[in-house]
Amino acid sequence: MRYFFLIFAVLVLLVLGVAGRRGDLFRHRPLQIFPDMKRQLKLRPQTPNGFFASGLSSQLPPPGTIAQSQPKRVGDQEVYGFEDVPVNTGRVSGATNFIELNPFPVTAGLLARGQQRFTIYCAPCHGQTGEGNGITKKIGAMAVVANLHDKRIVELPDGEIFNTVSYGKLNMQGYAPQIVVEDRWAIIAYLRALQLSRLGAVADLTPETRAKLK
Ligand code: HEC
Repeated sequence: MRYFFLIFAVLVLLVLGVAGRRGDLFRHRPLQIFPDMKRQLKLRPQTPNGFFASGLSSQLPPPGTIAQSQPKRVGDQEVYGFEDVPVNTGRVSGATNFIELNPFPVTAGLLARGQQRFTIYCAPCHGQTGEGNGITKKIGAMAVVANLHDKRIVELPDGEIFNTVSYGKLNMQGYAPQIVVEDRWAIIAYLRALQLSRLGAVADLTPETRAKLK
């Protein structure tokens, strides 16, 4: 029994002396009884070692890749990743005021795109004509869906509708993750065309058509 404690103490000191304490710093590589895959063959990223044809250990970004903060051209507009510009926010840069008008020129192409996207993303609730009687209302999934021909909504600035489409309002969720910025503006252009279709006055007609009406 006397020797047991003596041998035990010597063993503890020996192990401590050789292996050291956990977290100790060593001048030489420490003795690793269980290496736990801490040392293994690997390529360091973006170092020249000729693994790929480019000579680097990792692939270069595909040609044409741009950083999110870099402007990119969409049509004749410069669109920025997250920058505070009206195209991205629907607001005047550096302010909270909504912009009055769509920053994209309203062309037949933009309207066609907007009609297609509206039918996919908005018609299920607001209906093909925007009256708010889409399929979700009919099956009772949504109790109140806004009628987009309401005078109040017709009078909203384009920027505010962009904000609603992006971040949602009341029971409507935001569609920023599903609909890219350009398409959101295309939808707004189409929505304005839908609203205009109800607001045409006799005075807007050409004299010939007016004569035919009479
Ligand atoms: C899941 C159903 C649903 C979808 C899809 C949907 N909306 Fe809505 N939308 C609503 C509801 C609900 C309201 C709010 C109605 C209320 O409570 O007055 C609303 C309100 C609005 C308003 C009025 C906002 C205001 O200021 O009052 C606009 C504009 C609008 N939606 C546009 C769109 C457009 C554009 C799309 C397609 C990108 C879209 N919505 C897709 C359900 C939907």
